[in-house]
Amino acid sequence: MSVFLVLFVGTLVNSVIVSAKNDIYSGYSVHGVQLRSRSDQIVLYNLQSELNVDLWEYGAPSTRDAYIMVSPENRAEVFDMLDANNMKHYVHLPDVAKENPSYVTLVNVGESFEGRAIKYLKISTSNFSNSSKPIYLMDATMHAREWVTTPVTLYTIHRLVEDLKAEDFDLLENIDWIIMPIVNPDGYVYTHTDERLWRGTRSYYPTVSTTCYGVDANRNFDINFNTLGVSSNPCALNYPGHEPFSEPETRYVRDILLKYIDRIQIYMNIHSHGNYVLYGYGNTTLPSNAVQLHHVGAAMGAKIDALKLPEAGYYRVGNSHLVLYGSSGSAQDYGQAVGVPFSYTLELPGYGYGFLVPPEFIEQINAETWQGIAVTARLSYLYYRARNERT
Ligand SMILES: *[C@@H]1O[C@H](CO)[C@@H](O)[C@H](O)[C@H]1NC(C)=O
Ligand SMILES: *[C@@H]1O[C@H](CO)[C@@H](O)[C@H](O)[C@H]1NC(C)=O
Ligand SMILES: *[C@@H]1O[C@H](CO)[C@@H](O)[C@H](O)[C@H]1NC(C)=O
Repeated sequence: MSVFLVLFVGTLVNSVIVSAKNDIYSGYSVHGVQLRSRSDQIVLYNLQSELNVDLWEYGAPSTRDAYIMVSPENRAEVFDMLDANNMKHYVHLPDVAKENPSYVTLVNVGESFEGRAIKYLKISTSNFSNSSKPIYLMDATMHAREWVTTPVTLYTIHRLVEDLKAEDFDLLENIDWIIMPIVNPDGYVYTHTDERLWRGTRSYYPTVSTTCYGVDANRNFDINFNTLGVSSNPCALNYPGHEPFSEPETRYVRDILLKYIDRIQIYMNIHSHGNYVLYGYGNTTLPSNAVQLHHVGAAMGAKIDALKLPEAGYYRVGNSHLVLYGSSGSAQDYGQAVGVPFSYTLELPGYGYGFLVPPEFIEQINAETWQGIAVTARLSYLYYRARNERT
């Protein structure tokens, strides 16, 4: 995890991320194995008990390859056994513990208003080259003070890259991921240096206001801009900006959405706090696939509810206006309007602390939210497959 901390948070000292040690897997490799029959599977089961081979994916004869993780010590012997049985195999991940595995690409999208680098990770077993895979896009800390959102993205990266469990292998194999842990670094830094509860960006447009800085990035998108749940006062928390996409930070999110729109199946815009999974539109009009949006959102809420702490509220799921409040220019609405089938605002729990969630809750939020994210990834993948098989 430390590597991501350095990449995304730079010199900030206050961030609390649990670090993970998986250098014990240094040199371990993962291999795909073609299965012709049940007896090939049995060869793998035997390797599992005899040579400590970890079966990442059991596979199915002639339809799905198996995946095995092999230690450096046992590799030659495992290959000998596969070859002796005429079983075809290939390298899938050359080194599991490598800090920059070949399926992770760090993208520097550009600078914030104040010149900080804004970055995201692309995670893909096929380097985004397989256009038939859907993309899961998530971002966090669009609102500066919502600190607890960034750890969820880092933990997601951790679970996909550094600590992928066998039962989650489908998430990496079937789906490409784009994860932007900090949309609004200027505001985030400002909450550390000056004002803990700052929400907006830190742009300065003296022709608009000589005294007030920043805009509400989550009202700055070009969708029903400046119509609902906004203030025209440039000093207000919910000032949407003098024009849509006045902020470089929201333009970067827009550019990702538009660049990959054919494949982005789900967009999770992560906020805090209140335990909500919300979908469009902020003016109460429901998107045409509202039933599916509700299905996937409710499955997420239910999954997290089953894992939550007793003191946490239950998740509420629904149209953002009907269950929370009216809004315009939101990332959620923009994603929906440009064609993301499943575009959500996620509001993480606050446990009564609002934006000041104590660090000891981070592990819980990370773990439960990851399970919710996995549910949305799988369900939205099924919808993606169903749609593509019909057309
Ligand atoms: C992925 O593809 C891009 C070109 O689209 C290339 O620059 C990059 O090196 C590739 N990354 C990996 C990990 O293969
Ligand atoms: C692309 O991904 C799809 C869906 O996961 C898979 O069925 C297909 O085999 C992949 N194509 C290639 C060339 O790897
Ligand atoms: C609400 O916004 C959506 C998306 O822009 C639009 O299609 C719909 O017509 C709007 N509804 C109303 C009542 O203005």
